Amino acid sequence: MTAKLILGKEVSEEIYGELRQRIEALKARGVTPGLAVVLVGDDPASQVYVRKKGEMCEELGMRSTTIVMPKETTQEELLRKVAELNADPSIHGYLVQLPLPDHIDEEAVIDAIDPSKDVDCFHPSNVGRMLIGDPDFLPATPAGVQQMLVRSGIETAGRHVVVVGRSNIVGKPMAAMMVQRGAGADSTVTVVHSKTPNLAEITSTADILVVAIGKPRFITADMVKEGAVVIDVGTNRIQDPTHPKGSRLVGDVDFDAVKEKASYITPVPGGVGPMTICMLMANAVRAAERVVG
Ligand code: GUN
Repeated sequence: MTAKLILGKEVSEEIYGELRQRIEALKARGVTPGLAVVLVGDDPASQVYVRKKGEMCEELGMRSTTIVMPKETTQEELLRKVAELNADPSIHGYLVQLPLPDHIDEEAVIDAIDPSKDVDCFHPSNVGRMLIGDPDFLPATPAGVQQMLVRSGIETAGRHVVVVGRSNIVGKPMAAMMVQRGAGADSTVTVVHSKTPNLAEITSTADILVVAIGKPRFITADMVKEGAVVIDVGTNRIQDPTHPKGSRLVGDVDFDAVKEKASYITPVPGGVGPMTICMLMANAVRAAERVVG
């Protein structure tokens, strides 16, 4: 079997079409959804992400605010900025780009974000609401994966979803979402991670394998069941002297071998990647809609 590709660009275009209509409806009621992004320091990867988020806002006709603060910013100064954004009615949603410089307590900053503006869905109150199945927002990357499954017509009810990785941003919320009642979920879920002794044995039983462990080409063909759906959340830069840049991006899955065994697979790049910003925009639109009522 050679797997069908699930492409983030195609799935996200469909969602952007729906978001454009919702943005128009908000504008007709006098509200332009506004998203702010706070970037502390000059991490080059973060700068790229933040720029992309701003560009997408503009493209969708949303109001975009980028706040760049120097890497010497104190925790107190950042918390003051967070309080300002909480109080600003023109900002419906915002996020503080991670990672933050070492001298800033990330948890304290996330705790200070008004949950109704927390488009990352990182605030403990939003994480809790997601866990009990009554979410205001869903975390962008797992929500993007779920949309890829649903919009590709992949049945999730009663299927065995194995999540590889237990990060707060992907693995844990992914597992929590797939075990909920309802469309695009209702799955039987197993989470495996770096301390799981028989990891390959478990991944081989997955109907749907979601990999977010951050290790290049960690999942090999022998770890995948024939006909499985394989979603690769990893983005790892590896050295490749044959490549013009001297390096290239690969996922957490050995794509060339696994695609011969899977029924569906997401490539890297071009798979899950474009979904994260898309679902972030969906959360920003939702935040504005909640204000309008
Ligand atoms: N850094 C890497 N991914 C993310 C994300 O989804 N949100 C924020 N705020 N920072 C990140």
